[in-house]
Amino acid sequence: MDKNHIQVFDTTLRDGEQSPGASLGINDKLTIAHQLARLNVDAIEAGFPVSSKVQFDAVKLISEEVHGPAIVGLARCVEADIDAAGQALKSAERPRIHTFVATSKIHMEKKFRKKEDDILNMAVAGVKRAKQYVDDVEFSPEDSARTGKDFLFRIIEAAIDAGASVINIPDTVGYATPDQFGALIKDIFNNVPNMDKAILSVHCHNDLGLAVANTLSAVYQGAQQVEVTINGVGERAGNASLEEIVMALKTRNDFYNKTTQINTHEIMRTSRLVSSLMGMPIQPNKAIVGANAFAHESGIHQDAVIKDASTYEIMTPMDIGLESNKIVLGRHSGRHGLKQRLAELGYELPTEELNQVYERFLEVADKKKEVFDEDIIALVADEHISAEEIYQLDYFHILSGNRAIPTATVGLKKNGETIQEAAVGDGPVDAVYKAIDKIVNLPTRLTEYSLRGVTGGKDAMGEVVVRLVKDDKKYVGQGASTDVIEASIRAYLKAINRLISIEDHENSQP
Ligand code: KIV
Ligand code: ZN
Repeated sequence: MDKNHIQVFDTTLRDGEQSPGASLGINDKLTIAHQLARLNVDAIEAGFPVSSKVQFDAVKLISEEVHGPAIVGLARCVEADIDAAGQALKSAERPRIHTFVATSKIHMEKKFRKKEDDILNMAVAGVKRAKQYVDDVEFSPEDSARTGKDFLFRIIEAAIDAGASVINIPDTVGYATPDQFGALIKDIFNNVPNMDKAILSVHCHNDLGLAVANTLSAVYQGAQQVEVTINGVGERAGNASLEEIVMALKTRNDFYNKTTQINTHEIMRTSRLVSSLMGMPIQPNKAIVGANAFAHESGIHQDAVIKDASTYEIMTPMDIGLESNKIVLGRHSGRHGLKQRLAELGYELPTEELNQVYERFLEVADKKKEVFDEDIIALVADEHISAEEIYQLDYFHILSGNRAIPTATVGLKKNGETIQEAAVGDGPVDAVYKAIDKIVNLPTRLTEYSLRGVTGGKDAMGEVVVRLVKDDKKYVGQGASTDVIEASIRAYLKAINRLISIEDHENSQP
């Protein structure tokens, strides 16, 4: 491999999915994995197979269906974990087991009550067991950034001797600073005698907002793999963001002299897909993929950009696959035109889903003068069949006003039959949700409700994202419509259907 090549290891589906309230169903994960393959990442960490049946089956399905990148399963240095990862990855073209154990004093003492030598033995045994399943084994000393250096060098050397092909250095709690983290990477190269026998990888968390800076500092010191997530999603403040690191390496190749194999034209599509399936909107000023990332507000800037874009743009919107906010299709556009535009946006939908999106598209095109890419993307996310549609909206009526008691009647279809309920509430959304609760009868709690206009204008579609909690697990739902009550109902039903199908999958027989 080219010595200037930086491997991009995407962990959106594993660490990213550990974002609060981002649990994904199996189909969602598969959709994202296909898009990551189009983005051309080197490796996809697809999940933590031992942790649940959904996780195991998702890693298995991705191993079977996604070609190109290495497929990775996470495992603690524990036999059952490694065995589950080995089983789940059986069909992958290029399987990798990623095994980890915590090595910082605070984790060893408080989490494990174990001594250094016991931890080192766990690491060696873990790597050796993983080697029985796959050639490619990655080892992470968890909380490396707070681990004593002598022990860190010792455990890395032992893991490589045991057969690890990748050594990953996580800053698990986002504690490191760029100079310090870069110096740690340099010290590892200088003090681990067999480091040339493995790839050195880094994995940074963003608790101090330094994940990208720390990762780049490590690359500058010779790290060969970066572990990242789309939009920087992940535990707490998230992980280093793929798009920021890839574009920093591309734009500042003069400084880093490193390249990745990422097809940057797929960045925007991947970002939008992850954002909508995880129900996590992107802040407008987010670097690279935020709505304002290429917007020039000041007249002086606008004038200069028209004369020569390089005056105020260090990369072009086209580099990341961002085209202007086009009017795509109208009322008379056919199914084929929609299919083609969807393909350009990175969506290849099965026929049934395409038909549903087309029906919704026609409804929207009837109500809105102009249909933009953003509208289509919101409809796709809404119609995306992430789970079996156990409950479907048949009809709803609401009565609302400043002097009326908000009242809703809702009819939901289940197994071909319509079930009707009515309720009053604090407002129309509360009333429809109470009516749905009476039908569904599940002990859930609504923890988040947000509504945004997909585009500008009075006729803009509304997109609603909700999160429901049941048994401490969060389920997200997204719905879009020109009618905000309908969008609210769709989002709520999506979360409920996802919850039921994940629970059913968990309880099903292997
Ligand atoms: O942050 C971390 O330490 C991890 C490990 C499992 C690599 O995610
Ligand atoms: Zn992590």
